[in-house]
Amino acid sequence: NPLHGAQFVLAAHRVNQLPPDLGAEVAFAGRSNAGKSSALNALAGHKGLARTSKTPGRTQQMVAFALPPLAQGEGVPPLTARLIDLPGYGYAKVPEELRAHWKQEIDAYLHHRQSLRGVVLIADIRHPLKEFDRMMLDFCFATGLPCHLLLTKADKLSRNQAAQALAAMRKSFPDGLHATAQVFSSPAGTGVDEARARVAELLRT
Ligand code: GTP
Ligand code: MG
Repeated sequence: NPLHGAQFVLAAHRVNQLPPDLGAEVAFAGRSNAGKSSALNALAGHKGLARTSKTPGRTQQMVAFALPPLAQGEGVPPLTARLIDLPGYGYAKVPEELRAHWKQEIDAYLHHRQSLRGVVLIADIRHPLKEFDRMMLDFCFATGLPCHLLLTKADKLSRNQAAQALAAMRKSFPDGLHATAQVFSSPAGTGVDEARARVAELLRT
């Protein structure tokens, strides 16, 4: 597992509290309760790493996890790499003020974080993309930031239904979007190897 050995570093209310903006970073984004933290844990191969919950609004800060430095080949120094778990978007029961704060910080993070190499966007495979997901894809389209979409909770569908949902999703992507997509399930482990490889690839770009 290329993402083995991830360790909690800190949880930040603001972008300027995150670890130094050096090396390479991949962020996990998506609507509240989509399964971001579960996906991060599945990729790291460490169940209790990021906090997960049945109740939406679990992740309340930007949480940074450090990976062991990634080897880059002979003569090239190892790369400092991190995974960032972002708060979920759009949970109505989170006070409006806090939601506005998260929106502002996530926007600032996406726009200004130099080490950000790509976004893992997590969305429930059973539902059409929501406004937040569309905004994220539009942002990636506009800025050229790579995006990898995990259609998660695939364990809730048959393999056939999941494959159909993936095909429909890919078809809906505009030409020129730097996005890839796959079927995923955290508890079943579906697509974990593929996602690990994609994240490792993003970190090395
Ligand atoms: P917030 O931090 O609140 O925004 O949520 P999150 O996106 O980090 O979601 P989290 O990983 O905490 O998971 C939310 C709920 O969905 C939990 O009850 C998880 O067990 C469940 N869940 C996550 N991924 C999957 C999956 O692939 N399949 C199934 N069946 N349940 C999942
Ligand atoms: Mg979370």
